[in-house]
Amino acid sequence: MTVSRPSTHTQDGASPASGSPPGVDPSASQDAASATESRPVKVSTRNVSKVFGRQADRALELLRKGGTKADAQKLGAAVGVYDVSLDVYAGETFVLMGLSGSGKSTLLRLLNRLHEPTSGQVLVDGTDITKLGKADLLRVRREKFSGMVFQGFAILPHRNVLDNVAYGLEIQGVSAAERRRRALEATALVGLDGWESYYPSELSGGMQQRVGLARALAVDADILLMDEAFSALDPLIRREMQDELIELQARVNKTIIFVTHDLDEALKLGDRIAIMKDGRVVQVGTAEQIITDPADDYVEAFVEGIDRAEVLTAANIMMPLKATAQLRDGPHTALTKMRRFGISGLLVVDSERKVHGYLTSENVRAQLDDVDASRDRIESSRIGPAVTVSLDTPLQDIIGYASESSLPIGVIDASGRLRGVVVKGAILAALVRPGRGPDDPTKSAQVNTEGQHAV
Ligand SMILES: Nc1ncnc2c1ncn2[C@@H]1O[C@H](COP(=O)(O)OP(=O)(O)O)[C@@H](O)[C@H]1O
Ligand SMILES: [Mg+2]
Repeated sequence: MTVSRPSTHTQDGASPASGSPPGVDPSASQDAASATESRPVKVSTRNVSKVFGRQADRALELLRKGGTKADAQKLGAAVGVYDVSLDVYAGETFVLMGLSGSGKSTLLRLLNRLHEPTSGQVLVDGTDITKLGKADLLRVRREKFSGMVFQGFAILPHRNVLDNVAYGLEIQGVSAAERRRRALEATALVGLDGWESYYPSELSGGMQQRVGLARALAVDADILLMDEAFSALDPLIRREMQDELIELQARVNKTIIFVTHDLDEALKLGDRIAIMKDGRVVQVGTAEQIITDPADDYVEAFVEGIDRAEVLTAANIMMPLKATAQLRDGPHTALTKMRRFGISGLLVVDSERKVHGYLTSENVRAQLDDVDASRDRIESSRIGPAVTVSLDTPLQDIIGYASESSLPIGVIDASGRLRGVVVKGAILAALVRPGRGPDDPTKSAQVNTEGQHAV
């Protein structure tokens, strides 16, 4: 992802589309990047706050006088969101990022008024939805919002893919024929065509998440809200879904507001990112702005203060395996796999994908040259040791292993199954990048994906 929007730190202009609401000092705007933005504003919040608890108004008063979240807590109130003003532009992917409990989900739910704000306004296409009666609110939700995509999204087990995708339309009372047409279209959009009649239990976690996305897309409204939608997925599938969302967004051009606690995900997906802390937005900007000019220590700790080698893990930098040798493979099969993928060796796995070692092309050839050797099986004496690490092994430790051997390092999950591979090129790519840029290090053009000498 390239960040193409101009970087600006000027805070001298009011937001062109919305101006400054009364009582808001534009120089204190949380949204400095908006000064050069010409796209229409899709969703805005104006000094919006959400405090939970019976003493919400008193707690809010306390906060306005400079009280803290902890002070509010003494009143039995929980501060979800405090005094957030931001503009989300039509067609952008806007990410809300912050630690758990920082208020991301609360803010997201304020945007379609699933949460009633304690104070402040929420504008959708210029309409202040906090002022709407129930019927009008429901109409705005239906017309403007595509529903919400959650982590562990509510897939209905007894419905097939198509009927799950059509579910949102069914709730809206759309006719059966129209439902079917739009559900088919949305299913194809997320790459599930051909799977329409399958049941959730027959789908992988990633595919189930696609069903959730398709359900939202079938509704076909401008604004898509996603709350940690990919957070429960395996790392590789998660990155795949991120890539697909980027590609999908290029086609459908929705306004996406995406919540995550993962900085890498935020940097990868967000045209702009709002960083939240204790219910407040502490910085809004492009990935570049946030990396190069963090607003405070909190943001800096996220982006720069942290050593990449400590933060990144095997899961972040591993790549999918092109090929493995099975224990039952014969020497010709193993050699053919190596040739086909242009690699000089393979990790050897059993039927449960447990790693048994590493097989080099030299050793296979040696077996083939040996007239007394087996032609049916790779002999165990030909298989050398393999280095494996777990998904959460820090890059720092991986560097240590990689310096001792040039072989690719297998990455195994908690049950010992091989899940991916880390090669030297990926380690270097992850280390040399200044800050934590938006591009996936494993996609760098310089990285030879198997990291070694071709056969
Ligand atoms: N329904 C609720 N009732 C009381 N407190 C809540 C409720 N929802 C959220 N909170 C509180 O608001 C704060 C922000 O929560 P949340 O928006 O869920 O954070 P995040 O999504 O960033 O993890 C937390 O302190 C949380 O305990
Ligand atoms: Mg949340």
